[in-house]
Amino acid sequence: MPKLLTPAAVEKYHSAGYHFPVRVLSTAEAASYRRRLEEHERKTGAPLQGNWRHKCHLLFTWADELVHHPKILDAVEDVIGPNVLCWTTNFFIKEANNPGFVSWHQDATYWGLDPDDVVTAWVAFTEVTPANGYMQVIPGSHKVEQLPHVDTFHKDNLLSRGQEIAVEVDKSKAVGIALQPGEMSLHHIKLVHGSDPNRTNDRRIGLAIRYIPTYVRQTKVRDSAMLVRGVDAERNFDPEPRPQRDLDDAALAAHADAVGRQVKALYSGTDRQQFRA
Ligand code: NI
Repeated sequence: MPKLLTPAAVEKYHSAGYHFPVRVLSTAEAASYRRRLEEHERKTGAPLQGNWRHKCHLLFTWADELVHHPKILDAVEDVIGPNVLCWTTNFFIKEANNPGFVSWHQDATYWGLDPDDVVTAWVAFTEVTPANGYMQVIPGSHKVEQLPHVDTFHKDNLLSRGQEIAVEVDKSKAVGIALQPGEMSLHHIKLVHGSDPNRTNDRRIGLAIRYIPTYVRQTKVRDSAMLVRGVDAERNFDPEPRPQRDLDDAALAAHADAVGRQVKALYSGTDRQQFRA
């Protein structure tokens, strides 16, 4: 028996490439995560940017707590099995009335992970609606082979290389992932997805947590990851330490090392040394 999802939900994930909504936090808990992110932003005077939008669970104890959340991990275990690494986290923050968007893409394009048993747990810190740019997916598209992508580096594209699918996507088949704060969706690394800008007066905030079974390998660099459940018999990734205090020296060093490896993988073939702002 699955730990959190119903057998029908597990089947849906494997056949359609996604499943939602899954309630993992209460509304109050979701608001408290948003508050902790925004407390940090108030101190720095700017929205979380650049490298700090990625692998932030190595920097902040609250983000580390979230990637270890038992409900999230129960659902993840239901789709990828009992031995789980957290490979990365990426904040997808769309500011109010902002042109930021995500082009149609498959996550697998530049990640270098093999095989493709990789799941994203996308946790909503705010309400996520058509008006504020919810994620749209093409059901079943994870079963096609990797599609060709082109790099656009478009300034308003939230993806690392502004990568987009080079062939026509049939948008009439798209399903929108509307979520309440504290709900999450799950999607497969090859699922075709994208999203439009936020046309509302509030921010739209989601944390994408990428989980892999320990048998997955990184084909591009010697990468690192954090064991969050079960045992790691394969040791395909160097272990990452949990932050003891927000942004302390050890956390900053671990984050810099881990993000450096990831930038090498994601931007291979370009001259970029860090994530875009
Ligand atoms: Ni994506």
